[in-house]
Amino acid sequence: MTKFPERVFSGMQPTHSLHLGNYLGAMINWVKMQETHDCIYCVVDMHALTVWQEPEELVSNSRELAAAYIACGVDPERSVIFNQSAVSAHAELAWVFNCVARMGWLSRMTQFKEKAGKDRENASVGLFAYPTLMAADILAYRATHVPVGEDQKQHLELARDIAQKFNNDYSASIAAHGHGEAYFPLPEPFITGPATRVMSLRDGTKKMSKSEASDLSRINMTDDADAIAQKFRKARTDPEPLPSEVEGLKERAEADNLVGIFAALRDTTKADVLAEYGGRGFAEFKPVLAELAVERLSPIAAEMRRLLADPAEIDAVLARGADRAREIAGPIIDEVKDIVGFLRPGH
Ligand code: TRP
Repeated sequence: MTKFPERVFSGMQPTHSLHLGNYLGAMINWVKMQETHDCIYCVVDMHALTVWQEPEELVSNSRELAAAYIACGVDPERSVIFNQSAVSAHAELAWVFNCVARMGWLSRMTQFKEKAGKDRENASVGLFAYPTLMAADILAYRATHVPVGEDQKQHLELARDIAQKFNNDYSASIAAHGHGEAYFPLPEPFITGPATRVMSLRDGTKKMSKSEASDLSRINMTDDADAIAQKFRKARTDPEPLPSEVEGLKERAEADNLVGIFAALRDTTKADVLAEYGGRGFAEFKPVLAELAVERLSPIAAEMRRLLADPAEIDAVLARGADRAREIAGPIIDEVKDIVGFLRPGH
C-alpha cells in the first residue's frame, strides 16, 4: 500500500455563529492537532450554499467563522486557513468525484435525507452532491486525517469509498503516470475528546445546536459573562446531588452533560471532576461551572471582537491561506486531470 504523508483537513460551514458544542467538540481538537500535524482548516462556504443564504450574510458569516478559528487558537502562521470558494480545486475535483460516486451511495446519506425532508424534489442538486464536494475538500490535499463530529462519520466513509473507487477505476492510468498503485489516501475520521458531544442545556438527549429555538439551550461563543451564568443557572438538571463515580451518571443525561462540559473546559476527565464534586448539589456546581466557562470563553470572545473590528486583517489571512492552499492542491489537480484524461494543452 502506498504510504501518504500525514495531513489534517477539516472545515465548518459559515451558516451560524459558533457555540460551545462546536468549540469543545471540534475546535479544541483542531488547535491541538497543530502541535503534531500540518493542518488545513477551511471555511466551507460552497457547502453553505447548498441551502439558501442571503449573500451579504454569507460574506459576513464567512469572515466571522474565520475570526472564530483564529480566536479559538488556530494559528494562521502554522496552519492554512482559507475559504473554500477561493480555491477552484474544490469545485474541479468535486466534478470528477460526481462522476466516480454512484447515485445509490448518495441516496443513502442520512444527512441528505434529514435536510431534504419530505420534499426531496425541491432540494438543491448541491445538497444531494454535498458529500462529493466534501470528499474533494479532503482529497484535493490528499489529507489523511479528518477531525469531525460523530455525525460526519458517514460522509467520511463515503470519501473513502470515492478514493478507493478512483484508485481502482484508474489504476492503470495511475501507474502509467508514475504514481504507484494508489493516487488517493483513504482518509481517516478522527473523533476525539471527552466532550465531543455537547448536549442542549434544556434537554440532555439532544445535541447542542444552533437550530434549537431556545437560545437558553446553548452557550454561544460571543455570550457575555451574565448570559453564560444565566444559561447554566437555568440549565435543566435532576434534583439529586452529583455522584462520586462516572457510573452514577448513567440515565442522568443532563448531569452527565454538565460534568462533561466541566471536564472538557478544564481539560480533565469526568472521573476527576466527580472526585472533587461528588455529593455536591447543582446549586453549588453550576456557579463554578459558569465561572470556568466565562474564564475560558471570554478571552476568545474578546479576540473575536478585536478581529472583526478589522475585516482587512481577516481578509489578508484568508488571502494568504488561499495562496498556500492553491500551492498544495494545484499540482494534485493537474495530476488528476492527467490521470482521468483531461487534455491540458501544452503539457
Ligand atoms: N460537512 C461538514 C460539517 O457539516 C463540514 C465539512 C465540509 C467538512 N467539508 C469538510 C468537514 C471536509 C471535514 C472535512 O460538519
